[in-house]
Amino acid sequence: MTVQVDGRRPKIRVRHLEVFYRRERILGSVSVDIYPGITVILGPSGSGKTTFLRALNRMHDAVVGMFVYGKVFLDNRDIYAPGTNVPEIRRRVGLVFQKPNPFPLSIYDNVAYGPRRHGTPRRHLDEIVRWSLEQAGLWEEVKNRLRAPAHRLSGGQQQRLCIARALAVRPEVLLMDEPTSALDPLAAARVEGLIARLARDLTVVVVTHDIEQARRLDGRALLFQGGRLLASGPTRRLLSSHRDHHATSRHDPARAT
Ligand SMILES: Nc1ncnc2c1ncn2[C@@H]1O[C@H](COP(=O)(O)OP(=O)(O)OP(=O)(O)O)[C@@H](O)[C@H]1O
Ligand SMILES: [Mg+2]
Repeated sequence: MTVQVDGRRPKIRVRHLEVFYRRERILGSVSVDIYPGITVILGPSGSGKTTFLRALNRMHDAVVGMFVYGKVFLDNRDIYAPGTNVPEIRRRVGLVFQKPNPFPLSIYDNVAYGPRRHGTPRRHLDEIVRWSLEQAGLWEEVKNRLRAPAHRLSGGQQQRLCIARALAVRPEVLLMDEPTSALDPLAAARVEGLIARLARDLTVVVVTHDIEQARRLDGRALLFQGGRLLASGPTRRLLSSHRDHHATSRHDPARAT
């Protein structure tokens, strides 16, 4: 049965998802619904957060030895069903990595990359690039140097560029794997504000080790441990009922032992 939250239907329904690396099960069996708005993914290092996130847009397809079982319904279609158009799934479900990874191209060409690949007519590109950079809160900073190499931007600007690049193909879901952990506090705050804003229109799934960030984003949360989904629910409730399980800050000295 599908439970509606605030009258909203789940955007993604995960059923009996398991991921194996060769013969070792690294994730499973996960069944959970993901709703429009913010979902944060919490859990200690190695608990399966990234593995779960990557399963949501078939990123494991590219890794030799990785096997995914189960179903992931995007709206009502299983993205693992035979005959699925995987590039189309990746267009609808974008992924932003922890470390900004701009292509060795200009700012403009980074953002235009996806639309070009999807055959968007040239005459629309300027407008898409501008819209995407505006959405990512980067337009004002780069509008006079769109032809400059992307790697000349600061780390925080590069991360917003990668978000703009993901937005340019008009995804419905944005997956983000620790998008602020490589940024200084000011840049992280900007990206966090951006995430909150994007979640008004999209389904955004964010892995974070930052409990305060999870609390501020204030949506729903999934808590992973040992390759399993330990709990899910509204973030505040989940944080108060699992105080001991989510002590996963990057700076937690316990992690170093
Ligand atoms: N490509 C891979 N090949 C083999 N094992 C993998 C691969 N990716 C992940 N794993 C294993 O799966 C488990 C979960 O890893 P995952 O990267 O999902 O953890 P995580 O929760 O994202 O951790 P972190 O917080 O450190 O990023 C780990 O034991 C890891 O070694
Ligand atoms: Mg990870």
